[in-house]
Amino acid sequence: EQIEKGGYEHFMLKEIFEQPKSVHDTMRGRLLVDEGVIKMAGIWDHIEKFKNANRIIIIACGTSWHAGLIGEYLIEEYARIPVEVEYASEFRYRNPIITDKDVVIAISQSGETADTMAALKLAKEKGAFIYGICNVVDSSIARITDAGSYTHAGPEIGVASTKAFTAQLTILTLIAFKLGKHNGNLGNADFMSLIAELEAIPKRIEDVLSSTHELVQNIAKDFVNATNFLYLGRGYNYPAALEGALKLKEISYIHAEGYPAAEMKHGPIALIDENMPIVIIAPKRGHYDKIVSNVQEIKARKGKVIAVVNKGDTQVSAMADYVIEIPETSECFSPIVASVPLQLLAYYIAVYRGANVDQPRNLAKSVTVE
Ligand code: AGP
Repeated sequence: EQIEKGGYEHFMLKEIFEQPKSVHDTMRGRLLVDEGVIKMAGIWDHIEKFKNANRIIIIACGTSWHAGLIGEYLIEEYARIPVEVEYASEFRYRNPIITDKDVVIAISQSGETADTMAALKLAKEKGAFIYGICNVVDSSIARITDAGSYTHAGPEIGVASTKAFTAQLTILTLIAFKLGKHNGNLGNADFMSLIAELEAIPKRIEDVLSSTHELVQNIAKDFVNATNFLYLGRGYNYPAALEGALKLKEISYIHAEGYPAAEMKHGPIALIDENMPIVIIAPKRGHYDKIVSNVQEIKARKGKVIAVVNKGDTQVSAMADYVIEIPETSECFSPIVASVPLQLLAYYIAVYRGANVDQPRNLAKSVTVE
């Protein structure tokens, strides 16, 4: 096992550090920047299905559902196809309206999640075209779908999903750009600049890992005894906030909630006092001014702010108690980059609390029962 961990203390840390490679591997052979092409046989062979789709329904659980939410932002922004994102467990039991004009995308690292599988079967029975985004090759979900794209993240052993999540985001980004280019909603110049930026994302992740690792480790020390955490973000980073909170709660057992930052005033603001740590994702591109006022509201109530900002940020940084810098990217890529320090934060808080990081209590890597 020590050999498999490659010198890291836990699989989770190894997998966090593998992300430059796993994201790169997921794009390899698909993203051909010089030719200005995204090659995805699963999409291309069924392009009429996507082109004529009334809507895309994404079904998933847990972290994969968070990736699905970001997929909604991506596909609606770049391909202008309506997207709905559903928890598989809710979808399967609520008698959903599904037609043969719907495309249903299931996202699952393991490809074995019982609820996702059952929801897919239902969609298939009702005539929808079903597409899989799985990490485990030849898994049950990969086998029953009409087509799909594998995330090439490699085996993920830690129960807390990390590299599978960023690989799922990579696939969803490729799908959104490919569909948008094909249906004319994403113009050639924008397409070219976005794919060039996407190609450089593994390098951005590498930079974030090296520039934030030690810092985040130190920040984590101050929150070992925290009992609650709030995670806030807007736009693309709202699901990134949900994912940051899920990571923390599943491995450290600290109660954490993710919220869209603007929803704070509709309830969670009541929780804020000097004992409430709040992680706020505040990149330059993405409603920055609105986030600035959210941070002002938090500081007025003495909340402890851990801000994830772009390099060179001044406004949010001046108010925050802790500042984690990430490189500036187009908004659609920011959840990939911002998730990395949040994974590290959850990891180190859990390690300092003496928790079993790779195998947290009560959790299984794949949930094959209801
Ligand atoms: C992620 O950290 C969790 N362990 C869990 O939410 C997981 O994402 C969920 O069970 C879905 O699994 P899947 O992607 O294998 O379907």
